[in-house]
Amino acid sequence: MSALIQMRDIHVNFPVRNPDGGKMLTLRALDGVDLGITRSQCVGVVGESGCGKTTLAKVLMGLVEPNDGSVHVDGELLTERRSASSRRRLQMVFQDPGSSLNPRRRVRSALAELITYHDLVPASGLSAALRELMDMVGLPDRCLDVRPRDLSGGQRQRIAIARALAVQPDVIVADEAVSALDVSAQAKVVNLLSDLREQLGLTLVFISHDLGVVRALCDRVVVMYLGRVVEDAPTEQLFEDPQHPYTRALLAAVPDITTRREDAAARKPALDGEPASALAVGEGCRFRPRCPVAVSTCATEDPPLVGMRSHRAACVHAAAH
Ligand SMILES: Nc1ncnc2c1ncn2[C@@H]1O[C@H](COP(=O)(O)OP(=O)(O)OP(=O)(O)O)[C@@H](O)[C@H]1O
Ligand SMILES: [Mg+2]
Repeated sequence: MSALIQMRDIHVNFPVRNPDGGKMLTLRALDGVDLGITRSQCVGVVGESGCGKTTLAKVLMGLVEPNDGSVHVDGELLTERRSASSRRRLQMVFQDPGSSLNPRRRVRSALAELITYHDLVPASGLSAALRELMDMVGLPDRCLDVRPRDLSGGQRQRIAIARALAVQPDVIVADEAVSALDVSAQAKVVNLLSDLREQLGLTLVFISHDLGVVRALCDRVVVMYLGRVVEDAPTEQLFEDPQHPYTRALLAAVPDITTRREDAAARKPALDGEPASALAVGEGCRFRPRCPVAVSTCATEDPPLVGMRSHRAACVHAAAH
């Protein structure tokens, strides 16, 4: 099946100040990411803090321009200057809905403005369209006439989802969209995303630190390490038969996927040691300094993401699938 989203060899470099003074340094936030996503797929993106997940989302959304590489959506090359209609097709839901919702503006007027701007519904159908949106995200109509600041965190996140849905997107990119919610609100929003995906055929890119939620929601998982995709597999294969030692370490930190959140604090950290810096990615495999199974070739060879079918890993030890 041809990909709805195709990212090819994406590089994003950020200039950062050298703490010791002198020349500016280059931080490689994304360092050659290839990712194809088919329509209606739900892809989880996981990896330690700083590995490039949000940068990947921002590249998709056109909020960060890659230094190199290309993004196609439905065959159309996304450039810096996107048309309103091509921007409409991808919508983002952030961890903190405060960043995408004006807390003082009533929900009705914010959503109505979006729908009108994109000319999606005739004026006579606007009220019905707004009620339908509330229905889709499981909120009562009265939430249209409140301000986001007067809603609970879970309700605000539903409004943020309604805002994304208002423009009838093909793709929703959710960046830690449920991380700030308590367990029960989190489960409800995850169920909502799952239902919406089925009803509307939405494509979802779901960025999360919570592997349990990713396993429950996503049908494919992409594992990132220091600006690269190091493993990409159908969800159950990734959890049952991880090929990259980094993925295995991440999973080892979740002894029981059904572990309640209250117990999460007692878990051991995902990995010992800090990841190498994205400022100084050396020769060879970037995971080598922390890898328990590194061999001499790992010091010189930077393994590409390879695999026979849908399960691919960037490790010299990875079994061909
Ligand atoms: N505007 C920027 N200028 C300089 N460095 C940046 C900028 N944005 C991101 N970075 C750096 O790029 C790297 C990737 O950041 P990114 O926010 O994509 O990580 P992440 O995987 O989303 O992390 P987290 O899980 O903490 O949200 C980090 O080292 C970060 O410090
Ligand atoms: Mg992030």
